[in-house]
Amino acid sequence: MSGLFISFEGIDGVGKSTQIDLLIKHLDELGRKSIRTLEPGGTDLGVEIRHLLLHRKGEVAPRAEALLYAADRAHHVATKVRPALAEGTDVIIDRYLDSSVAYQGAGRELDSIEVRNLSLFAVQGLLPHLTILLDLDAAASLARRSKTGEEPDRLEREKVEFFEAVRQGYLDLAAAEPERFFVVDARQTIEEMAAQIRVRVDQLISKND
Ligand code: TYD
Repeated sequence: MSGLFISFEGIDGVGKSTQIDLLIKHLDELGRKSIRTLEPGGTDLGVEIRHLLLHRKGEVAPRAEALLYAADRAHHVATKVRPALAEGTDVIIDRYLDSSVAYQGAGRELDSIEVRNLSLFAVQGLLPHLTILLDLDAAASLARRSKTGEEPDRLEREKVEFFEAVRQGYLDLAAAEPERFFVVDARQTIEEMAAQIRVRVDQLISKND
């Protein structure tokens, strides 16, 4: 049987990594085989594309940006995600096509439907079974990020208005696909969020058994 495909989404600084770690641990305790991966940068080719997107000096035109994310995604899904799912491994992914719709669509003001269709072309229609959206307002996420002391990448240097538009883009996506999305209030504690995510994932597992 196919593994479960679960994506984590949200604006930068909402705490996706910590929640992914905790979910992987939970799946492990249930005796399920899982892998953790990310976009952009889940493959060797993707690491090079990630560098172009986030650390190269100079501007990237919005459509070029959208195509680079889609190229990363196409290679990642074809060479890593689909093979893992096919052998029954659960795939937990840090960002997937909803990131493109929210960041390149709502954030960069490209047409959201075109951006979504570009990604669907890239992945031959593969959607996650479940998408966990960690929701936090842009000001709070910026405050969290400034505490880490890390040098911001090209996207992280965007202003609060950009992240507010991205956040709204995500909430619109969640409202349009309530079956696939599970929205978690990221103002809660780490353990409160993790507990809600476990309950939702356990439901998905029992539905798929
Ligand atoms: P990353 O450091 O992985 O961000 P985070 O740790 O917050 O997940 O950097 C990925 C950046 O790329 C992030 O700012 C979101 C952005 N992005 C897009 O704009 N479009 C996309 O399709 C994806 C996957 C990411």
